[in-house]
Order: sequence, then C-alpha cells, then structure tokens
Amino acid sequence: MPRSNIKTFRKGGLPIKVTIKEVAKHAGVSISTVSLAINKKERVSEELRQRVVKAIDELNYRPNGLARSLKSKKSKVIGLIIPDIVNPFFPLMVRGVGDTAKRFGYNIILCNTDGEVKEEATFLRLFEEKCVDGIIFTCAGRIKKSLSLLNELSIPKVILDRRLDDLSIPTVTVDNTKGAYMATCHLIGKGKQRILFISGPDQLQSSLDRLNGYQQALTENRLAVHPELITYGDFSFEGGQKALKDVIANKISFDAVFGANDMMTLGAMMVLSEFGLDIPGGIEVVGYDDILLASLFKPALTTVRQPAYEMGCEAVKMILRAIHSKKTWIPSKVFEPQLITRESSPGN
Ligand code: RIB
Repeated sequence: MPRSNIKTFRKGGLPIKVTIKEVAKHAGVSISTVSLAINKKERVSEELRQRVVKAIDELNYRPNGLARSLKSKKSKVIGLIIPDIVNPFFPLMVRGVGDTAKRFGYNIILCNTDGEVKEEATFLRLFEEKCVDGIIFTCAGRIKKSLSLLNELSIPKVILDRRLDDLSIPTVTVDNTKGAYMATCHLIGKGKQRILFISGPDQLQSSLDRLNGYQQALTENRLAVHPELITYGDFSFEGGQKALKDVIANKISFDAVFGANDMMTLGAMMVLSEFGLDIPGGIEVVGYDDILLASLFKPALTTVRQPAYEMGCEAVKMILRAIHSKKTWIPSKVFEPQLITRESSPGN
C-alpha cells in the first residue's frame, strides 16, 4: 500500500492530526503496543513492531512530542542561550553542546540574544512553554538581571562560559584570570612595559576576571598599572578597531596589545597595520579565545586558547546530571587556559 495514501483532512483542507489510537486500530494492536514500538523497541516482537511501523507510515502519523513529554514529563530537549552567534567563539561551543546532546538522545533549541538582556527573558519563557528538560545559559551582559531571570525558573540549569557569581547554579568556564595573567606575563617576558589592554564589556564577569589577571601580572612584575593603558570594546572586530584608533588619536604610547578576545584583537591588528606599525617587530600582540581566524590571520595571532568545544560538551553532561540526579548540588567545572604562541608575539 503506497505511503500515506490514507489522507485525513479537516474542513478547509488541513490534515487531521492522526492519533496513536488510530494507529493502534489500523495496525490491529493496543495503544500501549504502539507506544512501546515507538519508545522501547526492545520490548515488542519484530512482527508487531513492523505492523506498527507500517501503520505509522501509511497514516503519516507524527507522535505528538508535547503530549509525550507531558506524559513522561521529559521532552528530551535542552534549551541553549548564547549572546552572539556571529562571534566565531560560540559556534564551536554550540557544536560541543549539540554533539553531546545528540549522543544522549536529546535535541537542543538554540536561541541567540544578540547581547540583549530583554531577549533572555523572551527565550527563557519560550523554554518554559516548550517544557525543555534543562537550560544551558550564556548571559548577554547584565549579570544581576540575567541571574534573577534564571532563578525564577525551576527548570534545571547550567551556566556556560560567562559565570554569574551564583554558586548554586553549576557553571562551566575557563580560569579567565589565569589566562589573562599568562598572556600579560608572556608580553612582559618579551620586554614589554606598556601593554595596552583592550577589555571586553565591563559588565561581564569574564571581562573583569581578565582585567584582574592583567593587573596581577603587572603588579607581580613591578610594573605600574596605567589607567590610560586600559580601554574597552564590545568583543567585536569593529570594537577592537575603534578602541585602537581612540588610543592612537589620544597619543597614548604602548609597546604591546593584549585584547580580551580574538575578534577585538584582530580588529586592533588591522588598525596597527593601517598606521604602519610592524607586528611583532614594533608592537607585539596577544588575543584570547583561539578562534580559527587567529591562526589564519597574517601575522598569525598569539592567543589564549579556551576549549570552547569541550566546554559545550561538559555543560551537557552537567545539565543531564541536574535533570536525572536527585543530588541538589553539582560541582562547577573550570577549564585551564592555554597560551598558543604564533607570529604576532613569538615564544621566548
Ligand atoms: O569572543 C567572545 C567572548 O565572549 C569570549 O572570550 C568568550 O569567553 C565569550 O564569553
């Protein structure tokens, strides 16, 4: 019998939603046998399973995910919120989330807030409506607002990448203070004494931690922390270009640049080249993230690697423990940063 030759239509021509009851009738089995054939194949005979599959195919039945999730109270869906899908750091992290979720039989709903905190509220409400089993969350910016939104939900949650200073929510991040400390010490080791630091948005904890690491390295090496050598960007390529142009326009001298993420740092490198400043001969440059572009740029960028893919994988393992474990407290995970030296600031 050809596939779905049995059409059922409402008035107005829209197909009627085929129910599991109709599939059971069509296959000549009970509703529970259909449900087992769909959800626990090992619990029905091959002959019965084939009859159910044939009926599903002929009726063009699509199991109602929401009905199933309401019954089992599990949607097998994880909500994932990221702040900037355009920044190459995030797709790798999302890939880690997606691959691991799939490995454990889960799907993800990916939402991009574009740095807008009000979008976070929209997507968190969406996740509630869709009955997701867990939420993995990277905040857009304002820590307090994001945290209060998250804490309104009783859904298991994990914070990924950008910590929110709430120890009750398991968090996956990198030791950003250590990463910035390593980058700055590397430049000091190359004899640099006036290192320009381009920070990310100051309302982000990862920006504050990297600034802290930069300042710690200067202080420990008995170098002054000059406020004019600390400037801010928005983690974008253009933000790095603007930050560097402003510093040059203000005639602030520097002998190295450390950018709090690769996209801003690459933007700054573009401006350095436009002003004829040689890298690394005159100015040495270090970034943060180790996105693919960092190794493709000319000169290739020395940077601090964040294991974005592995962070995504870990966040899924953590959320699954939160969903399935009766334990109320799950330890957070802090990954180690790694300095990757390339042409823009060669190794010692
Ligand atoms: O490049 C984007 C930045 O924001 C990265 O450093 C990552 O930590 C994210 O939070």
